[in-house]
Amino acid sequence: MIKDSEYRELTNLVYQHFGIALGHEKRTMVTHRLQTWVGEQGFSTFQDYLSYLKQDNQGSALMSLANRLTTNYSYFYRESEQLEFFFKKALPQKNAQSIGPGNSTLNIWSAGCASGEEPYCLAMLLNEYFGNSFVQWDMGILATDLDTVILQEAHKGVYREDRLNRLPPTYRLKYLKPDKKGYWAVDDSLKRLVHFTRYNLIRDQFSFKNKFYAIFCRNVMIYFDQQTINALVERFYHVLENEGYLIIGQTESLDKNKTKLTYVAPSIYQKRV
Ligand SMILES: C[S@@+](CC[C@H](N)C(=O)[O-])C[C@H]1O[C@@H](n2cnc3c(N)ncnc32)[C@H](O)[C@@H]1O
Repeated sequence: MIKDSEYRELTNLVYQHFGIALGHEKRTMVTHRLQTWVGEQGFSTFQDYLSYLKQDNQGSALMSLANRLTTNYSYFYRESEQLEFFFKKALPQKNAQSIGPGNSTLNIWSAGCASGEEPYCLAMLLNEYFGNSFVQWDMGILATDLDTVILQEAHKGVYREDRLNRLPPTYRLKYLKPDKKGYWAVDDSLKRLVHFTRYNLIRDQFSFKNKFYAIFCRNVMIYFDQQTINALVERFYHVLENEGYLIIGQTESLDKNKTKLTYVAPSIYQKRV
């Protein structure tokens, strides 16, 4: 069993390093995910494991802990209302302002991309939207997550059928190939557009060469407290282009008194300078 004081120590570490707020209600889940695993790692008590975590100069023990505790559930075409807004209202504005062949850039960030369904879905919708004019754009999707194990899955781009249930069948047939075991593999044309990398939204610096026209950070901030969300959104603000969008999960919302972003539709905010 994890003692009260040990649970407090662990949750403080998780909060400091990953911004994830694990309240008392998460104790059963945390115990379930860690108890046997900590034993398998060779620690005879939970206190020994905590001491090891606290001396983790390389960050690898903390990384394994993050991999163990994060909730990575995702699927293709999730929260389609936001996708509709982005591709029918936001992107046409950007397209209309583009400065011509060879000079138009479009950078999108899928922050907290889990197993990759979100960025691959964005890649196929971009391909559909731009059609033949796709080649005139310098376009890229940065897809990041804290969890290194899930990022390996994302890289592979192979999905069970149930992750594709919401995706219109025409897109599934055009952009994914079935194998004999009932899995579907993402086409290389989508993979070329997506760059996966590990990124801790709480601790890592936001030092990007280019600003983003859109940041999709959906169903990630749900694990953070209000203070952490406010600080993160402020940092997102600085890496967004003027008129760019922050799109969050449908069950998430921003404190309108604390953000410089303008609310435009449910879960959709715009930078207007
Ligand atoms: C539920 S998934 C959301 C996936 C996708 N955005 C969607 O809406 O389907 C949440 C993801 O946030 C990631 N995450 C949690 N804390 C994070 C942090 N501090 N930095 C980066 N990613 C984090 C988790 O590893 C997890 O994969």
